[in-house]
Amino acid sequence: MDMAALRNDFPTIRKGEGIYLDSACQSLRPDKVIKAMTEYYEEFPSCGGRSVHGMSSKVSLITDEARETAAGFFGTDDPDCYIFTKNCTEAINTVAKGFGLRKGDAVVTTDTEHNSNHVPWLLLSEESGVRRKYSRSKDNGEFDIESFKSIIGKDVRLVSVHHASNVTGCVVPIKEVAEIAHDAGAKVLIDGSQAAPHMKLDLKKADVDFYTMSMHKMLGPSGMGILYGKRECLDDLKPLTAGGGTVGLATYDSVDLAPIPDKFEAGLQNYSGIAGTKAALEYLADADMDEIRKHDRMLMRSIFKNTEDVKGLTIIGPDDPDKRCGIFSFNIRGLSPHDIAMMLDKTDNIMIRSGMHCAHPFFHSRGIEGSARASVYLYNEEKEIERFAAALEKLSDAFGIELYI
Ligand code: ALA
Repeated sequence: MDMAALRNDFPTIRKGEGIYLDSACQSLRPDKVIKAMTEYYEEFPSCGGRSVHGMSSKVSLITDEARETAAGFFGTDDPDCYIFTKNCTEAINTVAKGFGLRKGDAVVTTDTEHNSNHVPWLLLSEESGVRRKYSRSKDNGEFDIESFKSIIGKDVRLVSVHHASNVTGCVVPIKEVAEIAHDAGAKVLIDGSQAAPHMKLDLKKADVDFYTMSMHKMLGPSGMGILYGKRECLDDLKPLTAGGGTVGLATYDSVDLAPIPDKFEAGLQNYSGIAGTKAALEYLADADMDEIRKHDRMLMRSIFKNTEDVKGLTIIGPDDPDKRCGIFSFNIRGLSPHDIAMMLDKTDNIMIRSGMHCAHPFFHSRGIEGSARASVYLYNEEKEIERFAAALEKLSDAFGIELYI
């Protein structure tokens, strides 16, 4: 696919709305996704899996097709193993609440998790005495397999780690993690929110038990996520919410839960979001995930090269741009992250994110107050990176504090 030509598929780019370097937060959406969502409201705004009229059947069909598209996209063959959720956070909470962890069981995360893969376990430990163990990252933020191995024991029932960090972009070797965890009898949940948009996944080969993603980071609708699980793991998992659509039969005194995926999808669903999810995955498959990864790497290398002369710049994470999964977090001496983000927006129409990126423990443990973060995706081009780097240089020269020794 022609990466330059696909820029035309994105309305905000066509309208010249500025340089968007905040895709780790939410990506832009192409026409195909917007059209699929609008089509639902305009042509068959009905419910799925319930009524038998034509509009409703169309919704059921699109929902089934979306699951099939997801199964193909992520390298598996059982569409029922894809549960639609509100976002990645809800998918992780579904596992946290439904896995049946008890007092004394241990859960392993890393010290570099987003709050969505930290707070649910923290609350669980307060509520039920579940123990938490952290795999310590290397100084540059990279996953440390030796630290991970050292805390895996028979007490660990679940390993729940990110696939790529939303601060450093570092990637965790999930297949190796799954092997080590499985050898110890633990199951594995991977928070794929930052990795799934950027690399071709083969969840069958990776052999993880659960994998979660947020569609809004991969060209899909806001308010849509996916929980993937192996069939036997989902069969054993309790649903987070219960109600209509989740049961085989309910009497006054008893209930049979429906089989997967239905038992997890209580009430009427975000059908427009499901249609948009299907369209986003089709778009990404056409663009080719391997090409997207190559393109992201080219942009990351360009960011590193072009920002070499920015005075007072410190980069959070590894020096190797190939290890960054589209993410460049940084500070400029003398400027707060929010100042950098606001000035880039106001003076150069460049959109980035600033703060602690919902990864508070990472920043606290390193004594850093936050960072600015630029993140790229398939629609960014090198020219934009050059303009970003030039804008940083200008900012640093005007407002940064250079230390002269
Ligand atoms: N998790 C999102 C981010 O890192 C919101 O920006």
